[in-house]
Amino acid sequence: MCEEIKITLTSSPKEKPVDETKLGFGKIFTDHMFMMDYSADKGWFDARIVPFAPIPVHPASTVFHYGTEIFEGLKAYRTVNGEIRMFRPMENIRRMNNSAERLCLPQLDEDFALKILDTIVELEKDWVPHSDGTSLYLRPFMYGNDPHLGVHAVHNATFVVICSPVGAYYAEGINPVKIAIESEDVRAVKGGTGYAKCGGNYAASLRAGEKAEKKGFTQVLWLDGVHRKYIEEVGSMNVMFKIDGEIVTPELTGSVLPGITRKSCVELLKSKGYKVSERLISIDELEEAAKSGKLEEAWGTGTAAVVSPIGWLSYKGQEFTVNNGVIGAVTQELYDTLTGIQWGKTEDTLGWCHKVC
Ligand code: COI
Repeated sequence: MCEEIKITLTSSPKEKPVDETKLGFGKIFTDHMFMMDYSADKGWFDARIVPFAPIPVHPASTVFHYGTEIFEGLKAYRTVNGEIRMFRPMENIRRMNNSAERLCLPQLDEDFALKILDTIVELEKDWVPHSDGTSLYLRPFMYGNDPHLGVHAVHNATFVVICSPVGAYYAEGINPVKIAIESEDVRAVKGGTGYAKCGGNYAASLRAGEKAEKKGFTQVLWLDGVHRKYIEEVGSMNVMFKIDGEIVTPELTGSVLPGITRKSCVELLKSKGYKVSERLISIDELEEAAKSGKLEEAWGTGTAAVVSPIGWLSYKGQEFTVNNGVIGAVTQELYDTLTGIQWGKTEDTLGWCHKVC
């Protein structure tokens, strides 16, 4: 197992973005990236931070042919006191190991993985943006790169962390998004890879996403792949609804991503005294609630999406407006509390923030 991280600094640092209102999501990258390699004989080796650059990969690598890839997403924030902090990084590291287990990729040592994140964030600290609503998005990913075409578990892999200063994920910002409930394609099934954060899940979602976008929707809400009945997730975020006073979110059945923002929101809402249920929610229940006026609010949760209000839902040609297409009181309260903790405006009583420097 690696213990040292060798750092090679870039000789040509890039200009940092001046207008932070135009950051968008994942379009700009910092000066450096972390890399380390794995082989079944040696374990992880050659941990290094190098100038950000394209990665040469063997054309026969398993990642290209059999989709042996997993990733994470977490953020570093510049707090109002000028500290740089990450939000619950150990949760991402543990989830990455769960994803690795599912795809037969190697495990990371949790403490060393945290050291990697600390080291790259500290090195790139001047890239953490200053404006409200911005952060440095960290994208750790791992891929198999055995250079031959047989289908089997990975013996060689690479782990990389890249960093990107970001603003809002959706063009709508904190304004409500339009979501199409998908009735044909499915994203995942129980026993598959739905709970793992792997590229293949996202590839499977693209066709429906494109179709929805052409019709003016921001994203797709998935139903379960077996009954085509139970609400699962949006793909870039988990979902929550306020139905007749109760906050409900789909339970983690194995085909839903166990979101860290989802978990944090459930914990925050419970601590505020809301009734929160993690349970199956059928499309019939949702439709009925929307028609009878009991669907009071809907929102998504995710690292990239943060807490994102849903203003419109469409299913098989019917369109439902949620809370008159404006952000609801609980959604706003949740957004303010969560981002307050992340940006250091609200006391972190739950100990979720990890100080880097
Ligand atoms: C995240 O929220 O970090 C995600 O990974 C979702 C998406 C950008 C793929």
